[in-house]
Amino acid sequence: MSLENSAAFLDGPRQSLRVGLASVRKPAAGEMLVKNHAIAINPIDGIIQDLGIFVQQWPTILGHDIAGEVVEVGEGVTEFKPGARVIAQALGMITGKPENGGFQTYTVVQAHAAALIPQTLSYEDAAVIPLAFSTAVGGLYQDGHLALQLPQNAHGNTDQTLLVWSGSSCVGSAVIQLATASGFDVIATASPRNFDYCKSLGATAVFDHADKDIVEKLATRVRSCKMVGAFDAFGSKESTHKIAEILSRTGGGFIATVEEPPAHLPKNVTCKQMLAALVPGTDVGTALWRDFLPAALASGQFKPAPRANVVGQGLESIQMGIDKLKKGVSASKIVVKL
Ligand SMILES: NC(=O)c1ccc[n+]([C@@H]2O[C@H](COP(=O)([O-])OP(=O)(O)OC[C@H]3O[C@@H](n4cnc5c(N)ncnc54)[C@H](OP(=O)(O)O)[C@@H]3O)[C@@H](O)[C@H]2O)c1
Repeated sequence: MSLENSAAFLDGPRQSLRVGLASVRKPAAGEMLVKNHAIAINPIDGIIQDLGIFVQQWPTILGHDIAGEVVEVGEGVTEFKPGARVIAQALGMITGKPENGGFQTYTVVQAHAAALIPQTLSYEDAAVIPLAFSTAVGGLYQDGHLALQLPQNAHGNTDQTLLVWSGSSCVGSAVIQLATASGFDVIATASPRNFDYCKSLGATAVFDHADKDIVEKLATRVRSCKMVGAFDAFGSKESTHKIAEILSRTGGGFIATVEEPPAHLPKNVTCKQMLAALVPGTDVGTALWRDFLPAALASGQFKPAPRANVVGQGLESIQMGIDKLKKGVSASKIVVKL
């Protein structure tokens, strides 16, 4: 293949990304080669860069969220054709192979971790979706997690409520939309400036997670609800403890969380971390990535959220994007155009 590929390489822990030429290979069975037009940056990218964790070989290529154009498909891939506009969750962290990382011009992706996007959706806006979507899917639908009914099986609204902590985060934004599509009432937390944003995604009530009386206020609010559980999209020990206290006071329940749960929780509360990288290719992963997402994006049932903050163009801008994300964002996702 005569394509010229460049990547933003990470040579070792605490090194700055280095842009250089990278190899590119033909997609194998079940894979496809995507030319990236936009990538998004996630907290885990900066964490891996700082700590060197999860890396199977150096140099590595980070990056989970890509949006671009299919160049070539491998054997058995029928739902995508060359030229198709797609998003994909790059799975380099799991495969350990540089060609599966997102921070490069051409990425080899698994077809089951990709979805078609409508012509009306820009690559920059679409790039915010993949990792947060899989994280939401893992916590909401997998057995052993909340195991909610899928959106495609929802017939009207259930009478049950889900508490979503950090509804304005990327993961929280996907959780609110999916839980609502599945027919659940959603009560979220966010900073007051993001209350309307969370409501625009489907939350029926939003509380300030920085309020010192948040546990009391939410416990009072959810006492009259039939709770299906909670999703901690922030995942600090403090947030999980607060959610556990709220659930515990109102009969107990399950918390799906993005990080390792605290060691000690009330007896009537259980909590489990989901891993987004393990979602594509599972039954629920396929049900959501293949059977729900493309149609939901086309119909507007699922929106790319939060808003893309395009901080630069070219692989050289990715390091700046990672540094910017470490300073914190609010209801936005850092995106680099390629
Ligand atoms: N397990 C997995 O597979 C997996 C996958 C993806 C992400 N994650 C983890 O999930 C977490 C969220 O990722 P993300 O990309 O969604 O994050 P993000 O969008 O970068 O998070 C930003 C949001 O965090 C909120 N926030 C800030 N301080 C908060 C606090 N004290 N309590 C509650 N919310 C607070 C802000 O809300 P306001 O501005 O409204 O206050 C802001 O909108 C990260 O820890 C990430 O590493 C895990």
